[in-house]
Amino acid sequence: MWLYFFAYWGWDMMRLPALVDPHVHVREPGGIHKEDWDSATTAALAGGFSTILAMPNTQPPVTDNETLKMALGAAKRKAHCDYGQFLGAGAGNLEVVRHLATRTVGLKMYLDQTYGPLRLDDMTLWMEHFKQWPCRYPIVAHAEGRTMAAVMLLAAIYDRPVHIAHVARREEILLIQAAKRKGIPVTCEVTPHHLFLTEQDVPLIGSGRSEVRPRLATAVDQQALWDHLAVIDCFATDHAPHTLDEKDSENPPPGFPGLETALPLFLTAIYEGRLTMQDLIHKMSSRPRQIFNIPEQPESWVEIETDIDWEISAARSFTRCGWTPFEGRKVRGRVQRVVLRGMEAFKDGEVMAQAGFGQNIRHVNRKDRVI
Ligand code: NCD
Ligand code: ZN
Ligand code: ZN
Repeated sequence: MWLYFFAYWGWDMMRLPALVDPHVHVREPGGIHKEDWDSATTAALAGGFSTILAMPNTQPPVTDNETLKMALGAAKRKAHCDYGQFLGAGAGNLEVVRHLATRTVGLKMYLDQTYGPLRLDDMTLWMEHFKQWPCRYPIVAHAEGRTMAAVMLLAAIYDRPVHIAHVARREEILLIQAAKRKGIPVTCEVTPHHLFLTEQDVPLIGSGRSEVRPRLATAVDQQALWDHLAVIDCFATDHAPHTLDEKDSENPPPGFPGLETALPLFLTAIYEGRLTMQDLIHKMSSRPRQIFNIPEQPESWVEIETDIDWEISAARSFTRCGWTPFEGRKVRGRVQRVVLRGMEAFKDGEVMAQAGFGQNIRHVNRKDRVI
């Protein structure tokens, strides 16, 4: 397989296996002025992704059968690429969530300050969710610092995997490394913005626009992430679009768009010798597929122009939010074509796949299922 995918290396074109983004805020239902299933999945294809996993902090949040049906119904009608949907862990849905597990990609627990109403403070609820959620479906936790330490203890006590979202700090990556060495079933993801931006970029981006959770960190934190690439299981964009009006308001919501900038940033890091192509394929395709039980998609891939230099600009993007914290950044490498299940889904800046072409990754043929 490696030889096949590296066959184009050395020329100016290269083919990579189909990429997965395990952390995307699609905003539908309830926030479609920021993004919806149509715009999020076209942005995903433009960014080189074939599959996105959608977060549940919508309005209403996805926490029960009705809201899950609402989100999956919109996705079925409007998605241009493949997708899965997370369920949110709440105070009132302990009894119902496990019955819905087979239709989801996992359970999301918000345990620290974030956007939306899903934050769970009561640790006895964390314990109940850990006991009840089926082991073969992941639990993903937004848990920073000491909260993260606590949630890893639950993974050890209840002997079930936990995936830590958007790790941003030195203390976090060091503790995850130590937990993995001890055999605690923990995996983690890191965002492009925590790898390519620090708090020193805040004046340039603007104070409201640079609000994000976890916050942009220090250069020492950033370096610790690069120094521990082997501990990082996945790269995940945490694509969290809010409009410029909202970001520039009195009370700016936290979050950055990221679907269309992630791959060019990582390709540039490869060009600069900070990352290998094997790392990229592992963290953006093979590993998220393993962790979230997503079947391989041999009929899907992304083609990259490797030798092209360009400048990131929100003006050319598909996301509805209309801005990027990477505006003006020079990158090398661009998505040229995405093939999804044998169909040309994106080519030369144009989305070819129709709305509704995207499939729920939990509804594919049984024989192809990994779980
Ligand atoms: C996310 C959002 O806007 O939904 N914001 C963010 O700053 N990352 C929520 C989250 O991922 O916690
Ligand atoms: Zn989060
Ligand atoms: Zn998020």
